[in-house]
Order: sequence, then C-alpha cells, then structure tokens
Amino acid sequence: MAKMSVGIADNLLLSVIRAWDTTGLVDGDFKPERPRIFVAPAMNSAMWHQPVTRQNLSILRDQWGWSPANPEGWVTVLPPIEKSLACGDVGSGGMMDWRDIVRQIEEHLNLSKNQA
Ligand SMILES: *[C@@H]1O[C@H](CO)[C@@H](O)[C@H](O)[C@H]1NC(C)=O
Ligand SMILES: *[C@@H]1O[C@H](CO)[C@@H](O)[C@H](O)[C@H]1NC(C)=O
Repeated sequence: MAKMSVGIADNLLLSVIRAWDTTGLVDGDFKPERPRIFVAPAMNSAMWHQPVTRQNLSILRDQWGWSPANPEGWVTVLPPIEKSLACGDVGSGGMMDWRDIVRQIEEHLNLSKNQA
C-alpha cells in the first residue's frame, strides 16, 4: 500500500500498478469500463493503526477509490477484519475473508448468480 501510494515500482505487481491506465487514455476505446484494482490489506493491528498507513490508505481510498461519487476511481479497498492474526494477536488488520473478496470481484464483473 505504501509503495503503491507513492508510485514505487520495484517488482512486477507494482510495475503493473504503475502502468495502470488510470485515465482510460490508452484503453478507453476498447474497454467499456475502466479496469479496477482491488486491494485487500492484511497486517498487524499496530501497523493498520499507524498514522502513515492511514495516509497511504487515504490516497487509495479517498483519492483513487471508486465510488458512485467518484466514478473516475480505479481502486477498491476491501477493508481488513478483526480476527486472529498471523502474529498471534487478535485485532483488526486481518485480510477480509477470501470468500467475501471473491464475492466483491464477482459482483464487479457481473458474474454473481444474484444478478440476472
Ligand atoms: C505512504 O507511506 C510511506 C512510508 O511507508 C510514506 O513515505 C509515504 O509518504 C506515504 N504516502 C502518502 C501519500 O502519504
Ligand atoms: C456490469 O453491469 C453494469 C450494469 O449493466 C454495467 O454498467 C457495468 O459496466 C458492468 N461491469 C462490467 C465490469 O462489465
């Protein structure tokens, strides 16, 4: 999240994100909808509540985040949940349940069975 928010591209994933067509300038003619990046953070509770994480999150969610009020947005942050974390603590910072992540992506891609 921190690297994404400042545009660092030092691995394949971050390079793909850095090359994302955030304006539709490149892909606009043949993609009906701007592609979306789903971010599902997972970290220790202390990291999640760290002020710099809040700043990074604010970029992804409040500036780049898609919402009905910001249809130009290209990021969806799937907030972490409270659960038993890998470090042994119980607290917020656990990745959203993978089934819920799949459901959100299915809904975005109009693949969910609920939509006819
Ligand atoms: C995100 O976090 C990094 C440190 O991890 C910090 O250098 C950077 O300024 C933060 N980005 C924003 C936009 O606040
Ligand atoms: C999903 O369906 C809605 C409503 O028909 C449409 O506006 C949207 O572009 C579709 N999303 C994708 C990713 O095709």
